[in-house]
Amino acid sequence: MEAEMRNDPFDTGPTGAFRTLCRKYPDDTVYPGANGFRSLWGPIFYRGRATGSARLLVIGQDPAQTEAVTRRILSGQAGRRVQGFVEKLGFTKSYLMINAFLYGIYNQDMALPHLNDPAIQAYRHQWLEAAFAPGKIEAVVTFGTPAFEAWTAFKATPAGQAVTAVHQRALHPTADKPGGPITRKDLLDNWNVALKKLQPKIQHPDEARPLVLYGSDFKADELPEIPSQDFPMGLQPWMRSTDFWAGMSPTPGTERANISIVVPS
Ligand code: URA
Repeated sequence: MEAEMRNDPFDTGPTGAFRTLCRKYPDDTVYPGANGFRSLWGPIFYRGRATGSARLLVIGQDPAQTEAVTRRILSGQAGRRVQGFVEKLGFTKSYLMINAFLYGIYNQDMALPHLNDPAIQAYRHQWLEAAFAPGKIEAVVTFGTPAFEAWTAFKATPAGQAVTAVHQRALHPTADKPGGPITRKDLLDNWNVALKKLQPKIQHPDEARPLVLYGSDFKADELPEIPSQDFPMGLQPWMRSTDFWAGMSPTPGTERANISIVVPS
């Protein structure tokens, strides 16, 4: 019998300045557990094209458990929501996603005040400078308040002032917490406003598409599988197309450090 072969493109990795940034990065003295960071799982740098070819820059908040396993940001529920958003703008590959925080957070009240600690900010600004150096980014979307504040701090720098790309802020992809003040519809109404502002400014999408706005809930095709080319080689499709397969360890006392993985049936 002939062997069945998969044929999955994969992320061949960062180049140039991005590669240097993935090699030399702040350690856990900059992101200590005592400040609410999940330092043990290390830095998780980006998703997409860290090669200078990106035309859309996405800024999120911090990597969670899923991202600690896949080693790419925005790859869990938030990531699939964001993937649907960028695809509505016609981007299927020419995007770069980074987070305001390089390490995951386990306690937001403790960690968020460190957004602009000098070493955290300086390293994030190096990523933003590298992203804009090739001059190709046409639009920037910040998801959530920390991302917006990170962008605002960068815009105040000389490199930030030179950026002409349009920026749009949007609610964080998981801002619609059960029982919280923001409903799913509030989130999607906010994203529709962002899409309508961004779409006319985009000159070079990967695919020119008519803008289809969100309704009151995500439709199945608005939560796409994340492309294999955004991940290290061999990452399995279920890791790119389902949510919540990685969570905090249920064992008391180990929640902060350990991750529990359940492969979807
Ligand atoms: N995962 C990320 O990498 N960033 C977010 O903002 C949320 C989830």
